[in-house]
Amino acid sequence: MRISLAALISLAALGSAQKATFEPSFPSPWGTGGPGWDEAYEKAREFVSKLTLLEKVNLTTGTGNQADLCTGNTGSVPRLNFRHLCLQDGPVGVRYTDKNSVFPAGISAAATWSRSLLQKRGEAIGQEFSGKGIDVHLGPVVGPLGRDPAGGRNFEAFGPDPYLAGVAVAETIIGQQNAGVIASVKHYILNEQEHFRSGISTNIDDRTMHEVYLWPFADAVRAGVGSVMCSYNQINNTYGCENSYVLNKLLKNELGFQGFVVTDWGAHHSGVVSALAGLDMSMPGEGLGAGKYGSYWGGALTEAVLSGAVPQWRLDDMAIRIMAAFYKVGRDKKQVDINYSSWTYETTGYRYWAAKQGNTTVNYHVDVQADHGELIREIGAKATVLLKNVGKALPLVKPESIAVIGEDAQDNPDGPNGCVDRICNNGTLAMGWGSATAEYPYLISPATALEKQAEADGTVFTNVKGNFDLDAAKAAASNASVAIVFANANSGEGYTTLDGNFGDRNNLTLWKGGDELIEAVSSVNPNTVVVIHSVGPVLIDHIKTNPNVTAIVWAGLPAQESGNSLTDVLYGKVNPQGRTPFTWGKGAKDWGVTTLINSTSFEPQQDFAEGPFIDYRYFDREEIEPSFEFGFGLSYTNFTYSNLSAVLHDPGVYKPAYGTTPPAPTYGELDLDPKNAVTPEGFSKIPKFIYPYINSANISNTTEVIPPGGRNASAQPILPAGGPSGGNPDLYKVLYIISADITNSGDVAGTEIPQLYISHGGPADPKVVLRGFDEILLEPGETKTVVFNVTYRDLSNWNSEVEDWRLTGYPKTAYVGASSRDLRLQKPLPLPRA
Ligand SMILES: *[C@@H]1O[C@H](CO)[C@@H](O)[C@H](O)[C@H]1NC(C)=O
Ligand SMILES: *[C@@H]1O[C@H](CO)[C@@H](O)[C@H](O)[C@H]1NC(C)=O
Ligand SMILES: *[C@@H]1O[C@H](CO)[C@@H](O)[C@H](O)[C@H]1NC(C)=O
Ligand SMILES: *[C@@H]1O[C@H](CO)[C@@H](O)[C@H](O)[C@H]1NC(C)=O
Ligand SMILES: *[C@@H]1O[C@H](CO)[C@@H](O)[C@H](O)[C@H]1NC(C)=O
Ligand SMILES: *[C@@H]1O[C@H](CO)[C@@H](O)[C@H](O)[C@H]1NC(C)=O
Ligand SMILES: *[C@@H]1O[C@H](CO)[C@@H](O)[C@H](O)[C@H]1NC(C)=O
Ligand SMILES: *[C@@H]1O[C@H](CO)[C@@H](O)[C@H](O)[C@H]1NC(C)=O
Ligand SMILES: *[C@@H]1O[C@H](CO)[C@@H](O)[C@H](O)[C@H]1NC(C)=O
Ligand SMILES: *[C@@H]1O[C@H](CO)[C@@H](O)[C@H](O)[C@H]1NC(C)=O
Ligand SMILES: *[C@@H]1O[C@H](CO)[C@@H](O)[C@H](O)[C@H]1NC(C)=O
Ligand SMILES: *[C@@H]1O[C@H](CO)[C@@H](O)[C@H](O)[C@H]1NC(C)=O
Repeated sequence: MRISLAALISLAALGSAQKATFEPSFPSPWGTGGPGWDEAYEKAREFVSKLTLLEKVNLTTGTGNQADLCTGNTGSVPRLNFRHLCLQDGPVGVRYTDKNSVFPAGISAAATWSRSLLQKRGEAIGQEFSGKGIDVHLGPVVGPLGRDPAGGRNFEAFGPDPYLAGVAVAETIIGQQNAGVIASVKHYILNEQEHFRSGISTNIDDRTMHEVYLWPFADAVRAGVGSVMCSYNQINNTYGCENSYVLNKLLKNELGFQGFVVTDWGAHHSGVVSALAGLDMSMPGEGLGAGKYGSYWGGALTEAVLSGAVPQWRLDDMAIRIMAAFYKVGRDKKQVDINYSSWTYETTGYRYWAAKQGNTTVNYHVDVQADHGELIREIGAKATVLLKNVGKALPLVKPESIAVIGEDAQDNPDGPNGCVDRICNNGTLAMGWGSATAEYPYLISPATALEKQAEADGTVFTNVKGNFDLDAAKAAASNASVAIVFANANSGEGYTTLDGNFGDRNNLTLWKGGDELIEAVSSVNPNTVVVIHSVGPVLIDHIKTNPNVTAIVWAGLPAQESGNSLTDVLYGKVNPQGRTPFTWGKGAKDWGVTTLINSTSFEPQQDFAEGPFIDYRYFDREEIEPSFEFGFGLSYTNFTYSNLSAVLHDPGVYKPAYGTTPPAPTYGELDLDPKNAVTPEGFSKIPKFIYPYINSANISNTTEVIPPGGRNASAQPILPAGGPSGGNPDLYKVLYIISADITNSGDVAGTEIPQLYISHGGPADPKVVLRGFDEILLEPGETKTVVFNVTYRDLSNWNSEVEDWRLTGYPKTAYVGASSRDLRLQKPLPLPRA
């Protein structure tokens, strides 16, 4: 690594300053099973007990980048006929293959506020991964959460509210794992921006960690997620994949996570230290600067076990956790052969891509799409948020003429997959760029779908394909009964830049002259409908207040059925139920955070000094009026709210967890004779493969500093907030049952998303936080009752002194309304003294 002079100077300066740290937490908690895991643990114990040292190590280490068919490939256990595990990107569908579907991005899925659609989406994604022979799906995403509206990968996740993200991630995981694939929730944790992602230290206090960023991961663990991917960044100056505070303490002890932790690709920085800090799998296997094995694990881990630096129980625990996840989702019954290669679309090619060996049939082009296109169309439509609608501009009813204007409505002339990893913004935007991409089977552009609708209606249709010929745009717009103008804003993963944006967005405005185009169109047409495809909020207050703009529609990142989903909404076949999963500010400074982009250090320090006040919590505290607040969205009908009731269900006596774990178990006797760990005679190695074998029977001791307590196998205290799969079960006890009546007071059927917000009442608390929502379909005139269960966790704050959740003495209030600022009903929630 080359170090610039400026970097050296700033490092020296930092050396003297006080750096954020944390209290180390050792030993790494060993998996014990528990609810939802016991049967899987039984099977895992039986399997792992049969394994040798080398076979166990094989399960923990990738065989190298592009070594085998999948994005990630572990070693195998040929003796027991156990093929290697296949790990594959990404969150919107199977990456690097064909005959797959592309699903709406996380941010759009969240915008439906529909538990059932989130779960169906998860299940359909899971089926496609399973059908290709994949064992581990690298998703879903709740890190980044979305602290910074410009964050490049926010669109992969479910928006900056931890509660909404928590529900969304849990439903996704349940769906995916029901389909027989292990979900790997990522990126754990605080990977909130792309700039400096491999060195930045995010410094955060324990309360914010628990109440905001850890929250959705807790829901993921409670949903039984099989795997967690640790992130590139540092947390309080230690890398995510060797951070004993986030892995050992929070994830494995407090949240009681029973599955395995896998590194993000290349996020592995140490051998012994990461093993003792709670890492279970290294991907893709090799490690930068890792020394003689080219990997921090593989042979290096074998050597560490042989020398005693890593105890057997820790290696066994890694293997148990990996295999328990495997059995939990039923892969032993559902596994099919891997049917594709990530590294070529040709039918034949090298199986061992990096080695250029094993020319054979690698792509069987197995069609896994089933009828998922219909679900994708439905999610795309139900995720569409109607932000403005004046004088019943929408829905459209057989308009005389429509003009579709803007590149964002069009097909990409190079085809929907014209740019590798979607690193371009050509044609309509329907996914961001980076590793969270998949190849489109097709992409229905808005222009295509709208033209078809116009034909059916006898509507005169004109289409202006570019953004920059404003005269052509005006000519078309001025003569149309409705002008539909499109614009977008993109972002992606920071391994590359697009138009100068290094993953993170440089600004929050529309791309490619979108504002000028909208201005031109609306200057000549008093019935202008604006459609925005974007990865997150854009600054559109001038569009909101423009009297000629009669409607604004946020269509998110809808994927392959984009045009059909949009047409369903514009023409009223689907009455919009989408609600914005983030706040739309009026200016870039409104969120109170900035992307850290200028640093000469390769370990820049970023303090999350705003604490829990991100997105609407910040706008509320600072009394900043947004263009559109979190949770907002219109319908083609109206809803009224009445009869709020709050019934104390349980007095809320919370029992902190206590007691100790059993001592660390081991499974089977290890042969610790180094002579038996060298490459067996006659074994033919595939070039560039990472193997578990050691180079020579002369093993050496690790040069890493072994953390105190790291090898301690004795029984350990259970944390007060701790418990199997999600923490202390008392956290999920229902304290209050809240209900309200919702009535459709308009004249068409529609779905309302009633939202429950809670005020925790303290001076350091946000004004309100989301703690419940539901989707309620109502015919005109119909009334239904929505019911919210409010748990002890929902009403509590994290108390860093007792390291547990506590109900504070401040008065709690429940609000039920249609958005974070449209709080129509309220009631105090008195709590008996604990
Ligand atoms: C991380 O560092 C911050 C800033 O110095 C500090 O407030 C916080 O307590 C640290 N977190 C932990 C878990 O120690
Ligand atoms: C480890 O995995 C590799 C790659 O799958 C395989 O070739 C090798 O035989 C395995 N080693 C052992 C000891 O099972
Ligand atoms: C892929 O699947 C097809 C059809 O299910 C099967 O015939 C074939 O053997 C599989 N190929 C590989 C390499 O797993
Ligand atoms: C792989 O084998 C096929 C025939 O089976 C051949 O056409 C192709 O050229 C080979 N590819 C390489 C890279 O050797
Ligand atoms: C697509 O995008 C790339 C990169 O931004 C650009 O260079 C290229 O000209 C575009 N192609 C078309 C057909 O617009
Ligand atoms: C304007 O629209 C009408 C139909 O609505 C069409 O007959 C006429 O040709 C259009 N004029 C121009 C200049 O495009
Ligand atoms: C914001 O960034 C986009 C994409 O790079 C660019 O097209 C646009 O012109 C920028 N906006 C401003 C105001 O600079
Ligand atoms: C609205 O459109 C009309 C043309 O119908 C135009 O005269 C007027 O200037 C426009 N207003 C704005 C604010 O652009
Ligand atoms: C970052 O540095 C560049 C070049 O020195 C400068 O133009 C820019 O204003 C800086 N940005 C911020 C946010 O400080
Ligand atoms: C909803 O109610 C508002 C205010 O009463 C009214 O202006 C609007 O027309 C109604 N919208 C629908 C779709 O019924
Ligand atoms: C490794 O360390 C142990 C003590 O921890 C010591 O007994 C042994 O001699 C060391 N081995 C080598 C090769 O340095
Ligand atoms: C709400 O809580 C009650 C009481 O614990 C329980 O019976 C009911 O099933 C819960 N409903 C949901 C949707 O969790």
